[in-house]
Amino acid sequence: MRRRPCLLCPGPVNVTPAVRRAVAGPDLCHREPEFAAVLTGVRRKLLRAFSITATHRAAIISGSGTAALEAAVLASVRPGRKLLVVDNGVYGARIAQIAAIHHLPTVHLRFPGLAPLVLGRVEAAFRREAAIETVAVVHHETSTGVLNPVAAVARLARQFNKSVLVDAISSLGAEPAPLAAIDLCVGSAGKCLHGYPGLSFVLVARRFLPALSARPPRSLYLDLRAALAAQEAGEPPFTPAVPLIQAFDAALDALVREGVAARIHRYRRRAAFLRRGFDRLGLAPLAPRALQSHALTALRLPPGVRYDALHDAMKRAGYIIYAGQSGFRGTMFRIAHMGALTPSDLRGLLRALARALPRRRAA
Ligand SMILES: Cc1ncc(COP(=O)(O)O)c(C=O)c1O
Repeated sequence: MRRRPCLLCPGPVNVTPAVRRAVAGPDLCHREPEFAAVLTGVRRKLLRAFSITATHRAAIISGSGTAALEAAVLASVRPGRKLLVVDNGVYGARIAQIAAIHHLPTVHLRFPGLAPLVLGRVEAAFRREAAIETVAVVHHETSTGVLNPVAAVARLARQFNKSVLVDAISSLGAEPAPLAAIDLCVGSAGKCLHGYPGLSFVLVARRFLPALSARPPRSLYLDLRAALAAQEAGEPPFTPAVPLIQAFDAALDALVREGVAARIHRYRRRAAFLRRGFDRLGLAPLAPRALQSHALTALRLPPGVRYDALHDAMKRAGYIIYAGQSGFRGTMFRIAHMGALTPSDLRGLLRALARALPRRRAA
Protein backbone atom coordinates (compact mmCIF):
# COMPACT_ATOMS: atom_id res chain seq x y z
CA MET A 1 0.00 0.00 0.00
CA ARG A 2 1.25 3.49 -0.87
CA ARG A 3 2.01 6.05 1.82
CA ARG A 4 -0.86 8.31 0.77
CA PRO A 5 -3.82 7.28 -1.38
CA CYS A 6 -3.77 8.76 -4.86
CA LEU A 7 -7.12 10.45 -5.44
CA LEU A 8 -8.20 9.90 -9.04
CA CYS A 9 -11.72 11.15 -8.42
CA PRO A 10 -12.68 14.59 -9.80
CA GLY A 11 -12.27 16.18 -6.38
CA PRO A 12 -11.27 16.03 -3.63
CA VAL A 13 -7.75 16.00 -5.04
CA ASN A 14 -4.35 15.40 -3.51
CA VAL A 15 -2.85 18.64 -2.30
CA THR A 16 0.74 19.79 -1.85
CA PRO A 17 2.40 19.86 1.60
CA ALA A 18 2.20 23.68 1.50
CA VAL A 19 -1.60 23.59 1.07
CA ARG A 20 -1.92 20.97 3.82
CA ARG A 21 0.14 23.13 6.16
CA ALA A 22 -1.96 26.19 5.30
CA VAL A 23 -5.26 24.51 6.24
CA ALA A 24 -3.84 24.17 9.74
CA GLY A 25 -2.71 27.81 9.74
CA PRO A 26 -3.27 30.37 12.48
CA ASP A 27 -6.71 30.54 14.13
CA LEU A 28 -8.38 33.62 12.67
CA CYS A 29 -11.60 35.48 13.42
CA HIS A 30 -13.39 36.39 10.20
CA ARG A 31 -14.11 39.89 11.48
CA GLU A 32 -10.47 40.77 12.08
CA PRO A 33 -8.15 42.50 9.61
CA GLU A 34 -5.89 39.40 9.45
CA PHE A 35 -8.69 37.40 7.82
CA ALA A 36 -9.74 40.31 5.60
CA ALA A 37 -6.17 40.37 4.26
CA VAL A 38 -6.29 36.65 3.42
CA LEU A 39 -9.69 36.91 1.73
CA THR A 40 -8.69 39.97 -0.27
CA GLY A 41 -5.49 38.16 -1.27
CA VAL A 42 -7.43 35.12 -2.48
CA ARG A 43 -9.84 37.26 -4.52
CA ARG A 44 -6.96 39.23 -6.05
CA LYS A 45 -4.81 36.18 -6.78
CA LEU A 46 -7.69 34.47 -8.56
CA LEU A 47 -8.10 37.47 -10.87
CA ARG A 48 -4.36 37.85 -11.30
CA ALA A 49 -3.76 34.18 -12.08
CA PHE A 50 -6.36 34.28 -14.84
CA SER A 51 -5.32 37.77 -16.08
CA ILE A 52 -8.80 39.22 -15.54
CA THR A 53 -8.08 41.86 -12.89
CA ALA A 54 -9.34 44.64 -15.17
CA THR A 55 -12.48 42.87 -16.33
CA HIS A 56 -13.82 40.73 -13.47
CA ARG A 57 -14.42 40.56 -9.73
CA ALA A 58 -14.29 37.44 -7.61
CA ALA A 59 -16.86 36.37 -5.02
CA ILE A 60 -15.78 33.52 -2.74
CA ILE A 61 -18.54 31.20 -1.59
CA SER A 62 -18.17 28.88 1.41
CA GLY A 63 -19.66 25.67 0.08
CA SER A 64 -18.82 23.13 -2.60
CA GLY A 65 -18.98 23.95 -6.31
CA THR A 66 -22.75 23.56 -6.40
CA ALA A 67 -23.11 26.42 -3.90
CA ALA A 68 -21.36 28.89 -6.22
CA LEU A 69 -23.24 27.42 -9.17
CA GLU A 70 -26.57 27.96 -7.42
CA ALA A 71 -25.58 31.54 -6.52
CA ALA A 72 -24.67 32.22 -10.16
CA VAL A 73 -27.86 30.64 -11.54
CA LEU A 74 -29.97 32.69 -9.12
CA ALA A 75 -28.23 35.86 -10.35
CA SER A 76 -28.42 34.96 -14.02
CA VAL A 77 -31.80 36.35 -15.10
CA ARG A 78 -34.19 39.15 -14.25
CA PRO A 79 -37.77 38.28 -13.22
CA GLY A 80 -39.77 37.24 -16.26
CA ARG A 81 -36.70 36.44 -18.37
CA LYS A 82 -35.44 32.95 -19.23
CA LEU A 83 -32.25 30.98 -18.77
CA LEU A 84 -31.20 28.81 -21.71
CA VAL A 85 -29.58 25.67 -20.31
CA VAL A 86 -27.31 23.68 -22.61
CA ASP A 87 -27.28 20.21 -21.09
CA ASN A 88 -25.15 17.30 -22.26
CA GLY A 89 -24.69 15.45 -19.01
CA VAL A 90 -25.21 15.27 -15.28
CA TYR A 91 -23.86 18.75 -14.56
CA GLY A 92 -25.77 20.47 -17.36
CA ALA A 93 -28.89 18.81 -15.96
CA ARG A 94 -27.97 20.11 -12.51
CA ILE A 95 -28.12 23.71 -13.75
CA ALA A 96 -31.64 23.07 -15.04
CA GLN A 97 -32.53 21.41 -11.73
CA ILE A 98 -31.35 24.43 -9.73
CA ALA A 99 -33.37 26.76 -11.95
CA ALA A 100 -36.46 24.54 -11.62
CA ILE A 101 -36.24 24.42 -7.82
CA HIS A 102 -36.19 28.22 -7.73
CA HIS A 103 -38.94 28.53 -10.37
CA LEU A 104 -36.67 30.36 -12.83
CA PRO A 105 -38.11 29.98 -16.32
CA THR A 106 -35.76 27.99 -18.56
CA VAL A 107 -35.38 26.72 -22.07
CA HIS A 108 -33.73 23.35 -21.61
CA LEU A 109 -31.70 22.07 -24.59
CA ARG A 110 -30.76 18.42 -24.04
CA PHE A 111 -27.99 16.60 -25.90
CA PRO A 112 -28.25 13.09 -24.50
CA GLY A 113 -25.39 10.61 -24.12
CA LEU A 114 -22.41 11.65 -26.18
CA ALA A 115 -24.44 13.51 -28.82
CA PRO A 116 -22.39 16.46 -30.08
CA LEU A 117 -23.45 19.84 -28.85
CA VAL A 118 -25.04 21.45 -31.93
CA LEU A 119 -24.58 25.21 -31.98
CA GLY A 120 -27.39 25.54 -34.51
CA ARG A 121 -29.85 24.44 -31.81
CA VAL A 122 -28.52 27.12 -29.44
CA GLU A 123 -28.88 29.73 -32.17
CA ALA A 124 -32.39 28.51 -33.02
CA ALA A 125 -33.37 28.84 -29.34
CA PHE A 126 -32.06 32.43 -29.26
CA ARG A 127 -34.10 33.24 -32.38
CA ARG A 128 -37.24 31.48 -31.15
CA GLU A 129 -37.31 32.75 -27.54
CA ALA A 130 -36.78 36.47 -27.17
CA ALA A 131 -37.20 36.10 -23.39
CA ILE A 132 -33.86 34.29 -23.06
CA GLU A 133 -31.50 36.60 -21.19
CA THR A 134 -28.61 34.27 -20.35
CA VAL A 135 -27.19 31.00 -21.64
CA ALA A 136 -25.67 28.51 -19.18
CA VAL A 137 -23.26 25.77 -20.21
CA VAL A 138 -20.81 23.43 -18.49
CA HIS A 139 -17.23 23.75 -19.72
CA HIS A 140 -16.00 20.28 -18.79
CA GLU A 141 -18.92 17.86 -18.40
CA THR A 142 -17.22 15.76 -15.75
CA SER A 143 -19.75 12.94 -16.03
CA THR A 144 -18.40 11.99 -19.48
CA GLY A 145 -15.06 13.82 -19.66
CA VAL A 146 -16.31 15.85 -22.63
CA LEU A 147 -15.08 19.42 -23.12
CA ASN A 148 -17.81 21.68 -24.46
CA PRO A 149 -17.20 24.44 -27.06
CA VAL A 150 -17.81 27.23 -24.58
CA ALA A 151 -16.00 29.88 -26.66
CA ALA A 152 -18.31 29.21 -29.61
CA VAL A 153 -21.42 29.31 -27.38
CA ALA A 154 -20.20 32.60 -25.87
CA ARG A 155 -19.57 34.10 -29.35
CA LEU A 156 -23.09 33.20 -30.38
CA ALA A 157 -24.46 34.67 -27.16
CA ARG A 158 -22.68 37.96 -27.83
CA GLN A 159 -24.17 38.12 -31.34
CA PHE A 160 -27.62 37.82 -29.79
CA ASN A 161 -26.79 40.13 -26.88
CA LYS A 162 -27.22 37.41 -24.23
CA SER A 163 -25.23 36.96 -21.02
CA VAL A 164 -23.10 33.85 -20.48
CA LEU A 165 -22.88 31.65 -17.38
CA VAL A 166 -20.26 28.88 -17.42
CA ASP A 167 -19.79 26.05 -14.95
CA ALA A 168 -16.00 25.78 -15.11
CA ILE A 169 -15.82 23.89 -11.82
CA SER A 170 -13.77 21.00 -13.20
CA SER A 171 -11.92 22.83 -15.98
CA LEU A 172 -10.36 26.00 -14.53
CA GLY A 173 -6.64 25.34 -14.29
CA ALA A 174 -6.73 22.44 -16.75
CA GLU A 175 -8.24 24.00 -19.86
CA PRO A 176 -8.13 27.47 -21.37
CA ALA A 177 -11.40 29.24 -20.54
CA PRO A 178 -12.57 32.22 -22.64
CA LEU A 179 -13.08 34.30 -19.51
CA ALA A 180 -13.31 37.64 -21.33
CA ALA A 181 -16.51 36.38 -22.94
CA ILE A 182 -18.03 34.96 -19.74
CA ASP A 183 -20.23 37.04 -17.43
CA LEU A 184 -20.54 34.52 -14.59
CA CYS A 185 -17.81 31.89 -14.40
CA VAL A 186 -18.19 29.36 -11.60
CA GLY A 187 -15.15 27.59 -10.16
CA SER A 188 -14.14 25.42 -7.24
CA ALA A 189 -11.03 25.41 -5.08
CA GLY A 190 -10.88 21.65 -4.83
CA LYS A 191 -10.23 20.43 -8.37
CA CYS A 192 -7.65 21.69 -10.90
CA LEU A 193 -6.73 24.66 -8.69
CA HIS A 194 -5.41 22.17 -6.11
CA GLY A 195 -7.12 23.47 -2.98
CA TYR A 196 -9.54 21.68 -0.66
CA PRO A 197 -13.20 20.96 -1.45
CA GLY A 198 -15.96 22.95 0.25
CA LEU A 199 -14.92 26.31 -1.19
CA SER A 200 -16.05 27.78 -4.49
CA PHE A 201 -16.26 31.10 -6.29
CA VAL A 202 -17.88 33.09 -9.05
CA LEU A 203 -15.85 35.33 -11.38
CA VAL A 204 -18.23 38.13 -12.27
CA ALA A 205 -17.58 40.31 -15.32
CA ARG A 206 -17.58 44.00 -14.45
CA ARG A 207 -19.89 44.66 -17.39
CA PHE A 208 -22.42 42.36 -15.66
CA LEU A 209 -22.38 44.32 -12.37
CA PRO A 210 -25.21 46.76 -13.27
CA ALA A 211 -27.41 43.79 -14.24
CA LEU A 212 -26.42 42.01 -11.03
CA SER A 213 -27.44 44.92 -8.84
CA ALA A 214 -30.87 44.97 -10.52
CA ARG A 215 -31.65 41.33 -9.60
CA PRO A 216 -33.88 40.61 -6.62
CA PRO A 217 -32.21 38.39 -3.99
CA ARG A 218 -33.50 34.84 -4.46
CA SER A 219 -31.63 33.30 -1.54
CA LEU A 220 -30.30 34.66 1.72
CA TYR A 221 -27.08 32.66 1.79
CA LEU A 222 -26.42 32.33 -1.96
CA ASP A 223 -26.98 35.96 -2.90
CA LEU A 224 -24.11 36.75 -5.26
CA ARG A 225 -24.66 40.50 -5.26
CA ALA A 226 -24.63 40.63 -1.47
CA ALA A 227 -21.61 38.30 -1.24
CA LEU A 228 -19.62 40.48 -3.61
CA ALA A 229 -20.60 43.70 -1.85
CA ALA A 230 -19.81 42.28 1.60
CA GLN A 231 -16.44 40.92 0.49
CA GLU A 232 -15.48 44.24 -1.08
CA ALA A 233 -16.43 46.00 2.15
CA GLY A 234 -14.50 43.42 4.20
CA GLU A 235 -17.64 42.48 6.15
CA PRO A 236 -18.53 38.82 5.62
CA PRO A 237 -22.25 38.42 6.42
CA PHE A 238 -21.85 34.77 7.49
CA THR A 239 -18.99 32.79 9.00
CA PRO A 240 -16.78 31.79 6.08
CA ALA A 241 -14.77 28.55 5.81
CA VAL A 242 -11.65 30.25 7.20
CA PRO A 243 -9.22 27.28 7.05
CA LEU A 244 -10.27 26.40 3.49
CA ILE A 245 -9.68 30.00 2.44
CA GLN A 246 -6.22 29.92 4.06
CA ALA A 247 -5.46 26.71 2.17
CA PHE A 248 -6.81 28.14 -1.11
CA ASP A 249 -4.51 31.12 -0.62
CA ALA A 250 -1.52 28.75 -0.61
CA ALA A 251 -2.87 26.86 -3.63
CA LEU A 252 -3.26 30.14 -5.52
CA ASP A 253 0.28 31.18 -4.60
CA ALA A 254 1.44 28.01 -6.33
CA LEU A 255 -0.81 28.69 -9.33
CA VAL A 256 0.44 32.25 -9.70
CA ARG A 257 4.06 31.01 -9.46
CA GLU A 258 3.46 28.29 -12.04
CA GLY A 259 1.21 30.37 -14.29
CA VAL A 260 -2.16 29.17 -15.64
CA ALA A 261 -0.71 28.47 -19.10
CA ALA A 262 1.99 26.24 -17.61
CA ARG A 263 -0.60 24.50 -15.37
CA ILE A 264 -2.73 23.79 -18.44
CA HIS A 265 0.33 22.45 -20.24
CA ARG A 266 1.04 20.18 -17.27
CA TYR A 267 -2.50 18.79 -17.53
CA ARG A 268 -2.04 18.22 -21.29
CA ARG A 269 1.16 16.26 -20.68
CA ARG A 270 -0.47 14.21 -17.91
CA ALA A 271 -3.46 13.36 -20.11
CA ALA A 272 -1.25 12.39 -23.05
CA PHE A 273 0.99 10.19 -20.87
CA LEU A 274 -1.94 8.42 -19.21
CA ARG A 275 -3.86 7.94 -22.45
CA ARG A 276 -0.86 6.27 -24.10
CA GLY A 277 -0.86 3.93 -21.10
CA PHE A 278 -4.62 3.29 -21.27
CA ASP A 279 -4.23 2.45 -25.00
CA ARG A 280 -1.46 -0.05 -24.19
CA LEU A 281 -3.77 -1.66 -21.64
CA GLY A 282 -6.51 -1.99 -24.26
CA LEU A 283 -8.83 0.42 -22.40
CA ALA A 284 -11.18 2.25 -24.78
CA PRO A 285 -12.14 5.87 -24.05
CA LEU A 286 -15.83 6.67 -23.73
CA ALA A 287 -15.67 9.85 -25.80
CA PRO A 288 -13.75 10.40 -29.04
CA ARG A 289 -10.27 11.86 -28.40
CA ALA A 290 -11.18 15.21 -29.95
CA LEU A 291 -13.92 15.79 -27.37
CA GLN A 292 -11.98 14.79 -24.25
CA SER A 293 -10.81 17.28 -21.64
CA HIS A 294 -7.30 17.07 -20.19
CA ALA A 295 -8.64 16.81 -16.65
CA LEU A 296 -10.26 13.38 -16.70
CA THR A 297 -10.55 10.27 -18.84
CA ALA A 298 -13.76 8.24 -18.93
CA LEU A 299 -12.99 4.66 -19.97
CA ARG A 300 -15.25 1.81 -20.98
CA LEU A 301 -15.16 -1.14 -18.59
CA PRO A 302 -13.65 -4.08 -20.48
CA PRO A 303 -16.02 -7.04 -21.00
CA GLY A 304 -16.19 -9.22 -17.91
CA VAL A 305 -14.72 -6.56 -15.59
CA ARG A 306 -17.01 -5.35 -12.82
CA TYR A 307 -16.45 -1.80 -11.58
CA ASP A 308 -16.60 -2.73 -7.92
CA ALA A 309 -13.91 -5.39 -8.28
CA LEU A 310 -11.66 -3.04 -10.24
CA HIS A 311 -12.24 -0.23 -7.75
CA ASP A 312 -11.40 -2.46 -4.78
CA ALA A 313 -8.25 -3.88 -6.38
CA MET A 314 -7.07 -0.36 -7.24
CA LYS A 315 -7.91 0.89 -3.76
CA ARG A 316 -5.85 -1.90 -2.20
CA ALA A 317 -2.95 -0.66 -4.33
CA GLY A 318 -3.54 2.92 -3.12
CA TYR A 319 -5.43 4.40 -6.10
CA ILE A 320 -9.00 5.70 -5.75
CA ILE A 321 -10.74 5.52 -9.12
CA TYR A 322 -14.28 6.75 -9.80
CA ALA A 323 -17.48 5.14 -11.04
CA GLY A 324 -19.55 6.04 -14.09
CA GLN A 325 -22.54 8.32 -13.50
CA SER A 326 -26.22 8.09 -14.50
CA GLY A 327 -26.62 6.30 -17.88
CA PHE A 328 -22.97 5.17 -17.88
CA ARG A 329 -23.01 3.53 -14.45
CA GLY A 330 -21.79 -0.04 -14.74
CA THR A 331 -20.34 0.39 -18.24
CA MET A 332 -17.55 2.86 -17.66
CA PHE A 333 -15.22 4.24 -15.02
CA ARG A 334 -13.37 7.50 -14.66
CA ILE A 335 -9.84 8.49 -13.86
CA ALA A 336 -9.38 12.17 -13.03
CA HIS A 337 -5.88 13.55 -13.56
CA MET A 338 -6.39 16.42 -11.15
CA GLY A 339 -4.43 17.68 -8.19
CA ALA A 340 -0.87 17.40 -6.95
CA LEU A 341 -0.03 14.14 -8.73
CA THR A 342 3.60 13.36 -9.46
CA PRO A 343 4.99 11.55 -12.53
CA SER A 344 5.68 8.61 -10.22
CA ASP A 345 1.97 8.60 -9.17
CA LEU A 346 0.99 8.38 -12.84
CA ARG A 347 3.44 5.56 -13.59
CA GLY A 348 2.27 3.73 -10.46
CA LEU A 349 -1.36 4.12 -11.51
CA LEU A 350 -0.69 2.50 -14.89
CA ARG A 351 1.22 -0.36 -13.23
CA ALA A 352 -1.61 -0.91 -10.73
CA LEU A 353 -4.18 -0.92 -13.54
CA ALA A 354 -2.10 -3.47 -15.47
CA ARG A 355 -2.14 -5.73 -12.40
CA ALA A 356 -5.83 -5.20 -11.64
CA LEU A 357 -7.12 -5.87 -15.17
CA PRO A 358 -7.44 -9.37 -16.61
CA ARG A 359 -4.10 -10.62 -18.03
CA ARG A 360 -5.02 -10.45 -21.71
CA ARG A 361 -5.74 -6.74 -21.32
CA ALA A 362 -2.46 -6.05 -19.62
CA ALA A 363 -0.34 -7.36 -22.51
C1 LIG B 1 -18.74 20.34 -13.85
C2 LIG B 1 -19.16 20.20 -12.42
N1 LIG B 1 -20.13 20.99 -11.96
C3 LIG B 1 -20.55 20.93 -10.68
C4 LIG B 1 -19.99 20.03 -9.80
C5 LIG B 1 -20.47 19.97 -8.39
O1 LIG B 1 -19.45 20.35 -7.54
P1 LIG B 1 -19.52 19.99 -5.97
O2 LIG B 1 -19.62 18.50 -5.88
O3 LIG B 1 -18.20 20.53 -5.49
O4 LIG B 1 -20.68 20.68 -5.41
C6 LIG B 1 -18.98 19.17 -10.24
C7 LIG B 1 -18.38 18.17 -9.33
O5 LIG B 1 -17.64 17.31 -9.71
C8 LIG B 1 -18.56 19.26 -11.58
O6 LIG B 1 -17.58 18.46 -12.03
